Amino acid sequence: MTMNVGIDKMSFFVPPYFVDMTDLAVARDVDPNKFLIGIGQDQMAVNPKTQDIVTFATNAAKNILSAEDLDKIDMVIVGTESGIDESKASAVVLHRLLGIQKFARSFEIKEACYGGTAALQFAVNHIRNHPESKVLVVASDIAKYGLASGGEPTQGAGAVAMLVSTDPKIIAFNDDSLALTQDIYDFWRPVGHDYPMVDGPLSTETYIQSFQTVWQEYTKRSQHALADFAALSFHIPYTKMGKKALLAILEGESEEAQNRILAKYEKSIAYSRKAGNLYTGSLYLGLISLLENAEDLKAGDLIGLFSYGSGAVAEFFSGRLVEDYQEQLLKTKHAEQLAHRKQLTIEEYETMFSDRLDVDKDAEYEDTLAYSISSVRNTVREYRS
Ligand code: CAA
Repeated sequence: MTMNVGIDKMSFFVPPYFVDMTDLAVARDVDPNKFLIGIGQDQMAVNPKTQDIVTFATNAAKNILSAEDLDKIDMVIVGTESGIDESKASAVVLHRLLGIQKFARSFEIKEACYGGTAALQFAVNHIRNHPESKVLVVASDIAKYGLASGGEPTQGAGAVAMLVSTDPKIIAFNDDSLALTQDIYDFWRPVGHDYPMVDGPLSTETYIQSFQTVWQEYTKRSQHALADFAALSFHIPYTKMGKKALLAILEGESEEAQNRILAKYEKSIAYSRKAGNLYTGSLYLGLISLLENAEDLKAGDLIGLFSYGSGAVAEFFSGRLVEDYQEQLLKTKHAEQLAHRKQLTIEEYETMFSDRLDVDKDAEYEDTLAYSISSVRNTVREYRS
């Protein structure tokens, strides 16, 4: 009998500032409907220089971990493509800030937006071999393309934390994942570059083509058809992206299946519309959004997940919802977090965006957010706790 392994708890954290996409469109002399409808974004999360991927990861993980979890976790994996060090893993800092017992493995994984899924699969395999332990997986990123750049309306920031264990209380994964690797330069960030190089049309095209290829092979190997799924959740660089990919496989499906999957897609993008791209965390922010906002899902329902990381690696995998999964969700906390953010004017956003942390200058920093950067000494960031 296969062991039940999956996500026991999950939560997200986004920085406490946002820009309204209509304001951004007006400032960039673009029709607001291009951002609201064409790209599918309402708001975009923005962070000051005193908040980084460690700040987001720690706040997201704090929402879900109990004292017992801190004692049982023997592995901490951070998936990110906006790391703060070329060598040392942010997971090591996260491990200390959270107070996880010391006999644990901590490391970072990178493959663009796919890194969170690589981390999750590593965690699932570890738990299959060590059922008594727990693994903390965090996908944390800052998506920045530059002021007035083509990618600007698809920026965002934040983290998703997931506790992986046996007998999970939210979703148990099937052993059916299928990955696809293709060496393509659609989006990449050479060492030393602050912003990514991106071929927007190629990235969109590769995302859709990767999904079609993986889906076709997955359905062949797994014997699952679209009709078996209650919902599909996608990596969401901007909310129109997953929908474009989904529409590419709907032809020939029953009207009932098409309507059901499309209606669920809308539930999965509710949070991303307000936060923007979380890179590694986007697929999992979408999963949280789906589970917290779709009222007609139930235990046993089959959920498909499509992960995409430029460069490019794609993966499709699935899981079944667990009895009473609703009780594990933090819907109220998440709604409050999104509602209590401060809206920035475009001028404030541009100032915040351009004000960068200089790690070569020792300094103290003010910020009221937990786990924000309190000082930099000898290039080392210290965090409030
Ligand atoms: N009203 C309604 N819709 C409008 C409109 C209006 N007034 N004006 C334009 N639109 C529509 C367009 O018709 C288009 O819709 P379709 O895609 O359905 O045809 C949509 O708005 C976008 O218009 P453009 O294609 O002209 O947009 P653009 O040239 O400004 O580029 C982008 C959009 C490629 C997403 C760009 O923002 C970008 O490069 N973003 C970063 C890369 C990215 O996110 N790629 C996604 C796949 S890669 C990935 O997933 C990894 C990752 O996280 C980065």
